[in-house]
Amino acid sequence: MENSPAGVCDNDPMPKVRTRFVCQECGDVKPRGLGRCPECGGWNTYVEEADQPRGGSDVPATMRVAPEPIAAAALTERPRLESGLAELDRVLGGGIVPGSLVLLGGEPGAGKSTLTMQVSHALARAGHRVLYVTGEESIAQVRLRAARLGVDAPGMLVLAETDLDCILEAVSAGKPDWVVIDSIQAVHDPRLASAPGSVSQVREATAQVMRVAKHAGPAVCLVGHVTKEGTLAGPRVLEHMVDTVLSFEGDRFRTYRLLRAVKNRFGSTQEVGVFEMTGGGLREVANPSALFLAERAPDATGSAIAVPMEGTRPLLVEVQALVAPTFMAAPRRAANGVDVSRLVQILAVLERRVGFKLSRADVYASVVGGLEVAEPAADLAIALAVASGMRDRALPPDLVAIGEIGLGGEVRSVAQAGARLREAWKLGFKRAVLPAGNMEELAAPPGMVLAPVSRLVDALVAGLGTMPAGDSEQLSLDEAEPTAPF
Ligand code: TYD
Ligand code: MG
Repeated sequence: MENSPAGVCDNDPMPKVRTRFVCQECGDVKPRGLGRCPECGGWNTYVEEADQPRGGSDVPATMRVAPEPIAAAALTERPRLESGLAELDRVLGGGIVPGSLVLLGGEPGAGKSTLTMQVSHALARAGHRVLYVTGEESIAQVRLRAARLGVDAPGMLVLAETDLDCILEAVSAGKPDWVVIDSIQAVHDPRLASAPGSVSQVREATAQVMRVAKHAGPAVCLVGHVTKEGTLAGPRVLEHMVDTVLSFEGDRFRTYRLLRAVKNRFGSTQEVGVFEMTGGGLREVANPSALFLAERAPDATGSAIAVPMEGTRPLLVEVQALVAPTFMAAPRRAANGVDVSRLVQILAVLERRVGFKLSRADVYASVVGGLEVAEPAADLAIALAVASGMRDRALPPDLVAIGEIGLGGEVRSVAQAGARLREAWKLGFKRAVLPAGNMEELAAPPGMVLAPVSRLVDALVAGLGTMPAGDSEQLSLDEAEPTAPF
């Protein structure tokens, strides 16, 4: 029994495969599954899989590299590739970095295959060699999508294959500049006993692809599935291994999609790309604010426009609030797209510093269009939406509200006020309530009326009452009645 290979008992009529347990979060290996991982602290993260005997190095002699002086290594930077989609290039930090490994995650139907196909097409048309590996669809299915997207560049090769060795061979032989593997969960290494899509398969496939990519030089895009909980299927270590993790988020009920960088070794993780799914593929949305405001009713109460920054770009979004009387001892506060604790804090300031009676009301706040607004600069718009809903009086339809609210009821200045104002002005907004502290560095865009405020109560006066329209002079609120008009 001791001498039998891989722990298989010679007398056992049903030979057992020895198994081990791997944490899906951090890749920790234990002989037995644990409820809580001692390494990363995750609960119920261990998954059983077939054990692998550890072999020697499988790096071919031709791929072994010697150490080199850092001065020689640092200067070999190759220019980035343009993906043909400016929104994607911006999210990546200025294009695709040659030799980099990008993981693109998203729910089924988000448009991952469509996006990668369009990028492949653009690169092939620009004269780059492209290899598109599909592990989930047949060549015929890929061809159908390609026809729909008008993809016909001769430099684009398609391979329907799930065997890791065949894929790596094709990469080594074809010397492509851009490789797509759709999806990494479908790829399997026949040397591993575990099933395709299992933790060790995904990890091993990624590690080997990474090795080939770093050696042979193509930029590789791995398409990854997302679980119901919204995390990438496979171990967290996958995210640590790759250079960039992109998440493609789409609302199933809408046509637009948001592309975010969750991790980026070559750029910021703040940028968001906006796309629209059309009959002919993904189209970039150059002006997302217009899209988010498209269905806004101009005279709606409980609605205000905030201008949060998404990376370097200001976006205009509508914040809605509903204030409904309640007889419950603990009124409800629910938020969608706004942090609920932030909402509760703003309500407390409205109650204590302005005199709103909100303790007898349920308050619901929501950002229209499914965007998450985490910036404090949206505080003032949330407060104005609540005040407008409470008083049942609409704000001027061409007004934006910018500013952070402090616990003392003061309006604090925000970063990038000028960029936010210009975006609002571009979209035809003519009035802005904004922090007085921002006024020094600002010039009002032509024809825009600014109401600089330093207290929340002044902002409410400006937004809901005394602000004149169409006046190109800057409005001073010093004379305005400082007592609450409510
Ligand atoms: P797909 O790219 O296959 O999504 P994923 O690879 O993320 O699972 O396609 C997403 C959806 O988009 C699918 O339901 C079909 C639709 N679609 C269009 O609306 N227009 C198009 O041009 C294409 C190619 C797909
Ligand atoms: Mg797909």
